[in-house]
Amino acid sequence: MSTIQTTQLNLPEGMIDFGVGQPAPSLLPLAALREAAAHCLSQDDASLLYYGANYGHGYFRLALAQFLSEGYGMPVEAEHLFVTTGASQGLDLICTLFTRPGDTIFVEEPSYFLALRIFADHGLNVISLSTDEEGLMIEALEEKLAKHKPVFLYTVPTFHNPSAVTLSATRRERLVELSQQHNFLIVADEVYHLLAYTATPPPLLGSYIDAGTTLSLGSFSKILAPGLRLGWIQGAPALLERLAKSGLVDSGGGLNPFTSGIVRSAIELGLQAEHLSCLKATYRRRAAVLSAALRQHLPASVTFTEPHGGFFTWLRLPEEIDTGALLTEAHRHNVGFQPGIKFSSRQGLRNCARLSFAFFSEMEIEEGVKRLAQVLDQNNF
Ligand SMILES: Cc1ncc(COP(=O)(O)O)c(C=O)c1O
Repeated sequence: MSTIQTTQLNLPEGMIDFGVGQPAPSLLPLAALREAAAHCLSQDDASLLYYGANYGHGYFRLALAQFLSEGYGMPVEAEHLFVTTGASQGLDLICTLFTRPGDTIFVEEPSYFLALRIFADHGLNVISLSTDEEGLMIEALEEKLAKHKPVFLYTVPTFHNPSAVTLSATRRERLVELSQQHNFLIVADEVYHLLAYTATPPPLLGSYIDAGTTLSLGSFSKILAPGLRLGWIQGAPALLERLAKSGLVDSGGGLNPFTSGIVRSAIELGLQAEHLSCLKATYRRRAAVLSAALRQHLPASVTFTEPHGGFFTWLRLPEEIDTGALLTEAHRHNVGFQPGIKFSSRQGLRNCARLSFAFFSEMEIEEGVKRLAQVLDQNNF
């Protein structure tokens, strides 16, 4: 029987797949967006239906700057914001405009696996840098800089996908200094910065505007709804100008003016802030339940990084365990995860796994961890 697919997700009935790194449908704010859309469409503003201004709709950028100033706890200027259709598109556009096939870029090990796909689409030469509990290791970066000249370094500095770690304030400063000395861009994927539960992260890399080397990606996918396809890039005017003058924007106009209008209403009516605080309360509880269940049910040989924000927990199993093979076994127990190798650009991390606590309820999370424990138990781990 053929079925009509309406979303990217195709989850088998009864499966608790911790590999799903997105919110459950019950966390999507349909009512709030209905109200925001009604408010927006009652304004008689036909500009939303026209080709947009190159940097994004002006009033939306002003509302976004106000929202981010409050959320980031620092002043954000509208002229430092370029509107995208999400972090993925922002990343793709940066690759299009700043790189040529064969150019070298640096990524973290582990790195967000779908960003690696975008870099592959652009034929980039990807070199990975080791990380630890404080994020990217500066010594590893210095060592690679002695041998290579990257166009940019891609990092998820806060509540990392997949490793859950946050780059320390000292390392952020050093990273920015090195980017100026060695003339490379920092492409900071900061989509989880506003999702802090039990720790306040250091200032975002997007705040180093004056350095002129940072481009910070943000997205409504994580704080409102991924289907909106709306995000932003924060950076110095000279860098944003490259984006605003791209062929893509010249031809199609500034990105997503219609959705920008609806989200502007969501911001101005306070619906965005309300939804974000509801998400944070829910995810904070889910993260705590996941950590407690992992401590209670998994063997001591499995370690994990406690999440203080974002969507993820990163498991480290004993070296000899291949989580790719383990996943086949896990699926027989109706549980899943993302195997570590997906996040490696060196074919490593085979003993690691990414779990997300964003999709499932607290009860399902507890049950899923029990199933994982059974899988490990039956495989004598
Ligand atoms: C680190 C990171 N960057 C980007 C994205 C995708 O963002 P968007 O939906 O805005 O394209 C995700 C989603 O999982 C992510 O985790």
